[in-house]
Amino acid sequence: MEITARPPTVFVKGQGSWLTDSAGKVYLDFIQGWAVNCLGHSPAPLVAAIKAQAETLINASPAFYNQPMLDLAAALTAAAGLERLFFANSGAEANEGAIKLARKWGRIHRGGAHEIITTHNSFHGRTLATMAASGKAGWDDMSAPRVPGFVKVPFGDLNAVAAAINVNTTAVMVEPIQGEAGVIDAPDAYMLGLRVLTEERAFS
Ligand SMILES: Cc1ncc(COP(=O)(O)O)c(C=O)c1O
Repeated sequence: MEITARPPTVFVKGQGSWLTDSAGKVYLDFIQGWAVNCLGHSPAPLVAAIKAQAETLINASPAFYNQPMLDLAAALTAAAGLERLFFANSGAEANEGAIKLARKWGRIHRGGAHEIITTHNSFHGRTLATMAASGKAGWDDMSAPRVPGFVKVPFGDLNAVAAAINVNTTAVMVEPIQGEAGVIDAPDAYMLGLRVLTEERAFS
């Protein structure tokens, strides 16, 4: 299916920063996986790790723990300063998990509050809920009817968030760096201010 305009080029091989197409033409790749898989094409340590794991265990049921899952969880929680984590297959799925978690918190701790404040021009993914959460022009209504429960405010405006919080609010969702909006950094004071504001208003 056409999900984006693609040139007819077909890539058949990648090594480091270089890609080769089916006609043998070589390209210097500045994109790779957009924001992900940015280690270069087929680096030897990655190939060796994938090979070793494929020879050991590929897919145990998610109803059980497996050793690589525990090792990765330990490394990520230590690096991020978090206690637990949820493994997902994509950014949209991670955000869906966060939205569900926020709604659950609102149900248990805030009398059924379910609204999430997000920002204009934000991008949170391509599932129905994350499209509704996004503030990219036209994106939230592209697959109408829109998933309800998302309130949009200008990015970087702490007062706008403070004014938008009400009894229905359960969370604020922002990109620390807006990506699709044009690589726009959230000032430290904004992020720290959101932390203080949401803690202050969590039960009021
Ligand atoms: C800020 C942000 N959130 C979420 C997503 C969605 O991630 P994925 O494409 O892995 O579902 C993206 C993807 O570009 C993103 O830039």
